[in-house]
Amino acid sequence: MNKPNLYQRANGLQRRDAAEILEEYGHLLQWHGNANESLLDIGCGSGDVLIDFIVPLMPRNARILGTDVSEQMVRFARKAHFDRENLFFDTLDIGAELDSFLSSWGQFDHITSFYCLHWVRYQNVAFSNIYNLLKPGGDCLLVFLARNPIFDIYDQMSRSSKWTKYMTDVDKYISPYQHCENPTGEIEEILSSVGFTKYQIQITDRVYVYEGMESLKKAVQAVNPFSERMTLELQEEFLHDYIGVLNRMSLSKSCCEDGSDFKFLTPYKLVVVYAAK
Ligand SMILES: C[S@@+](CC[C@H](N)C(=O)[O-])C[C@H]1O[C@@H](n2cnc3c(N)ncnc32)[C@H](O)[C@@H]1O
Repeated sequence: MNKPNLYQRANGLQRRDAAEILEEYGHLLQWHGNANESLLDIGCGSGDVLIDFIVPLMPRNARILGTDVSEQMVRFARKAHFDRENLFFDTLDIGAELDSFLSSWGQFDHITSFYCLHWVRYQNVAFSNIYNLLKPGGDCLLVFLARNPIFDIYDQMSRSSKWTKYMTDVDKYISPYQHCENPTGEIEEILSSVGFTKYQIQITDRVYVYEGMESLKKAVQAVNPFSERMTLELQEEFLHDYIGVLNRMSLSKSCCEDGSDFKFLTPYKLVVVYAAK
């Protein structure tokens, strides 16, 4: 995901969920109000969810670091929010070794992460890193996808002769919980194995409706990890075929009398984890 401009214009679902989840669970984060209270946001993308929904909940003098694995995202967020005091952006791969990051930035009082952790294959590495990045007494709010039809569509498309060569690593881009019978149990096991003793896990069923083909295409294109491997023409064909698969899954409904446009229903499961160290 290296397309901050596209992402910022097509992240209605992520923004809606951030607002609603913070409304419901934001009170769990225990702000201390100390000088130098710090927050790390993991997978901040274009940075607008961090700035618009997380920062307003925090004490005024807090030090905030937005991070993302994508250098393009970090560069975009830095440029867009350069005028704020105590706000920094840096690259971080939460699925990788983090010695040098820890020695540059140290540990944090709070960690947030919205719509990122399902991209990390080795969940135990990500959660262990989060544990190590928290100060003792610190806490985190982590929101990520368990299941979403987008991952079934990627899977189906990757099996077609037309798309297979662009999607050889499709498994990397499917939530590790997509086919899991008991995601709560699995996440609980990981949390306790990395050292957390206080945590709560909620899995919520949600639906988002894309009103029209264009809004769906923009949202899919903004997060499509395969598009960088395709010409512009192929990207357009990919979106066309993607909509074909969605139609066959009965997730679309005609939304105008002449049947020339559709709305698309996306039912998905979102995981909300709050944990304290
Ligand atoms: C869908 S965006 C979410 C952005 C923002 N948090 C929001 O809610 O709008 C997911 C972000 O996670 C980042 N990401 C994916 N894998 C990551 C990893 N291993 N470590 C850190 N960030 C990662 C992507 O580059 C992308 O910017």
